[in-house]
Amino acid sequence: MAQMVEEGAVTLNVEGAFYNPKMKLNRDLGVAVAKTLGISDYLDALAASGARGLRVAKEACVEHVTLNDVSPRSCALVEENAKQNDLERCETFCSNANALMHQKHFEAVDLDPFGSPAPFLAAASRSALSYLFITATDTAPLCGAHLKSGIRKYMAVPVKAEHHREMGARILLGAVARELARADKGMYPLFTHVSDHYVRVYLRIAKGAKMADKTLEDMGYLEQCRHCGRWRTVSGMGCRSTGICSFCGENAEVAGPLWLGPIQDREHIVKTLAELEGSKAWSDRAARLLHLCADEIDEPMYYDYHKLCKKFKVTPGTADDLVEELRSVGWRASRTHFSGVGIKTDAPIEVLRGILCSI
Ligand SMILES: C[S@@+](CC[C@H](N)C(=O)[O-])C[C@H]1O[C@@H](n2cnc3c(N)ncnc32)[C@H](O)[C@@H]1O
Ligand SMILES: [Zn+2]
Repeated sequence: MAQMVEEGAVTLNVEGAFYNPKMKLNRDLGVAVAKTLGISDYLDALAASGARGLRVAKEACVEHVTLNDVSPRSCALVEENAKQNDLERCETFCSNANALMHQKHFEAVDLDPFGSPAPFLAAASRSALSYLFITATDTAPLCGAHLKSGIRKYMAVPVKAEHHREMGARILLGAVARELARADKGMYPLFTHVSDHYVRVYLRIAKGAKMADKTLEDMGYLEQCRHCGRWRTVSGMGCRSTGICSFCGENAEVAGPLWLGPIQDREHIVKTLAELEGSKAWSDRAARLLHLCADEIDEPMYYDYHKLCKKFKVTPGTADDLVEELRSVGWRASRTHFSGVGIKTDAPIEVLRGILCSI
């Protein structure tokens, strides 16, 4: 029995294949990004019903779209859905995604697996020529809740802290940067978000060993102190942390290796917003998310506004007031999409205390 759903500009039979309506926002943004970048060759490596790849073909007008899934049932559905939406030009493969990606190159590769993308990162890093888009739904291993699993999959140690959502995104980005480097490629993150229970990253790829070396310069570690709540970044692939908090002298935990470079490209996100306006992919939520990401300052991690107020024993006002105050005295500060109460700033914690105790 066909089980039909409409999403964006396509109608899909999703019967017998995995289809998650909660991932619509993720697909909406993927379509808008693909259109903004003017991609002409795209692989949906783990296609299921074809929802993602077929929408990219139809709504982002990408000429060559390849959809792959290891499940014969999914492949049959993808072909049926392509026909149903007048997208016969799309190519379908029924292969192990890793085998396909080792055989063929694509301008853009999109990974949207069940759980961790880790098993696909090596092949995808070789296959993708210009862009790599990745979803990871294994936020517990990435963010530090399932420590050993995270270490096995990403060869990095997370630390549980108030900014765990950004920690997860940066651990994933760090794992991808290292995998790309092995293929003599570097990366520039265009747009990164953690929504619901997944991490999503959009990367531009730069070819060459020099670009790979430059990318690895943005790797490093985070020294996190449970005692005073502060953190410090330490650059480089070799861990040069003393394990002692440089602010209060107590023991610090060390997270990494992780990506310490920029995670949002404001110019690209603003273009994506313009592309989203008036399109089938538009939603209030998508637009709000893009606005927040575009305005995030390039500063790793963030404070939890409520925790700060509790720590300094002040009655919480609004997080926006604190951001405004910080800016008015010359510090960089912004809200963040990672948390409704998150504050990114380059100001030291004493400055935050001074402002919070005076407003
Ligand atoms: C989360 S679903 C994809 C959802 C889809 N991209 C969407 O947006 O609706 C993951 C898919 O990966 C497929 N899959 C799992 N392992 C695979 C492999 N090694 N190679 C290719 N496909 C695989 C599964 O059959 C499943 O359909
Ligand atoms: Zn400390």
